Amino acid sequence: MIHQFNAIIVGSGGAGLYAALEASRGSRTAVLSKLYPIRSHTGAAQGGIGAALGNVEEDKPEWHAFDTIKGGDYLVDQQAAKILTEGAVQAVYDLENRGLPFNRTPEGRIDQRRFGGHTRNFGEAPVKRACYAADRTGHMILQTLYQQCIKNNVTFFDEFQVVDLIMDGDTCKGVVAVELATGDLHILAAKAVLFATGGFGRMFKVTSNAFANTGDGPAVCARRGIPLQDMEFYQFHPTGIMGLGILISEAVRGEGGILRNRDGQRFMEGYSPVLLDLAPRDIIARSMLTEVRSGKGIRGDRRIDDYLYLDATHLGKETLMKKLPDITSFCKTYLGVDPAEAPIPVLPTAHYAMGGIPTDIHGRVVRDGKGTVVNGLYAAGECACVSVHGANRLGTNSLVDLVVFGRRAGQHIGDYVKQADAPKVSEADADSGRAWIAHLTDGQSGPHGGRLMEEMQITMMERVGIYRTAGDMQSAVETIQSLRESYRAVRVQDTGKQFNTDLLEIIELGNLLDISLITAATALNRKESRGAHSREDFPQRDDEGWLKHSLTYLDGDAVRIDYRPVDISIWKPKPRTY
Ligand code: FUM
Repeated sequence: MIHQFNAIIVGSGGAGLYAALEASRGSRTAVLSKLYPIRSHTGAAQGGIGAALGNVEEDKPEWHAFDTIKGGDYLVDQQAAKILTEGAVQAVYDLENRGLPFNRTPEGRIDQRRFGGHTRNFGEAPVKRACYAADRTGHMILQTLYQQCIKNNVTFFDEFQVVDLIMDGDTCKGVVAVELATGDLHILAAKAVLFATGGFGRMFKVTSNAFANTGDGPAVCARRGIPLQDMEFYQFHPTGIMGLGILISEAVRGEGGILRNRDGQRFMEGYSPVLLDLAPRDIIARSMLTEVRSGKGIRGDRRIDDYLYLDATHLGKETLMKKLPDITSFCKTYLGVDPAEAPIPVLPTAHYAMGGIPTDIHGRVVRDGKGTVVNGLYAAGECACVSVHGANRLGTNSLVDLVVFGRRAGQHIGDYVKQADAPKVSEADADSGRAWIAHLTDGQSGPHGGRLMEEMQITMMERVGIYRTAGDMQSAVETIQSLRESYRAVRVQDTGKQFNTDLLEIIELGNLLDISLITAATALNRKESRGAHSREDFPQRDDEGWLKHSLTYLDGDAVRIDYRPVDISIWKPKPRTY
């Protein structure tokens, strides 16, 4: 089945929906998603969206840009960060005008709270910059944008899994997708395709990410020769629920929550004397692991799964219920703990990919270190790398990224499709997708996909986690390569056509294995410590050798790494202290 549109958006989180909303103003636009749109992972973003509105304390986009660049350990492209933080203010007011129910100050303005790494006057002290809707900010963004897309007559292909990208030389012509309800293969042809498929935290054993976060967009692009940028930088959020990894928002610390070790000490005093519990996430996650390794975790056994306490008891029931209702209920449901009465057991959880499909500031995908654009192909949100997060993202900046750059990409697509020719496609364009599905469902038996998934997740968690060494990463690369080899023999056990979740999971596993390989190999290659990439064998940042973006190409089983310059046109890199 062939469908023709001007623009196809793959993914229905905040970036996809904002892009669709803009693109659909003047062109036929469709959104394709493996989920029902409002189940997208943007809905899990809890604590807020950063924008220097200055509603509660003095603030400026320039301070926000500086914090973003310093937080990203100077691997951020600085003009992109400027666009991010100026665009944040416009996007927040645009969302407000479209009906997003932000919390309010007593005067009726959008309320704002503190978040990690966000400061006033270039690092003096924490600033209230995160605009929020209780602890359901992402959920509210999704609802608002989805309603607006419906109003704009965007066509939705719900529960369609993308399997391939259709390219004609340097020009993208569309995508191939499986309709989950029927098992049928569809070609969606378009003048412009935007990937907004979100993250890939499911490559780790303990993660805050939804089951759907399997890197589908980046994996499909990588297999079609598009490089992925800065894949070695993966963020661990300091406060996941012990054992489960479910997110406990940084907003708890923004509202005054404190991290404590087994002696009740506020241990961040020793690691970040100015920002304390609101230091950037990479610093807090490492500090927590250091406490655990030195026997100051709550059990005190020095094992990496030991935990610490997040103490919110002093905030009081009223604040918790008014500003952090979902968190309060998660703690009661999953831990049997009322955060008003007892501290919350937490440990770092795999949370966010700083790297992804490389783009320019309009969301256009680029294919090399010179910034050569792939015609008609765009990416935005967590699956993309523009690059505004560098080596470590600040909290709230994921929502900022997806609304600012989703919106910009949608606007650019709107203009691009006016002058681009309609692509010519035929059923033959789905041949490789069709052959892959036929192979997976040919009725033969092979290794169990679930076991490969488990081994991949444990490997990535233990060997490509918060602290890294060459030996661990080398062995991770070898293990992932051998899992990819085994994957070739994996087949579905359920060969039915309708809602075949077995098939969906095996497709997702293939994507995660490719992404894991790229992540581990690129991390092994970068011989320095920067942001979330923390090497025990190379503990210093090395600007002379490594102030550059990695661009990693997947060529069958081989990985090739090239580089792209970093834009440091505003602030010169400095040592990073908080
Ligand atoms: O902690 C949080 O609420 C997460 C926010 C983010 O990742 O930006």
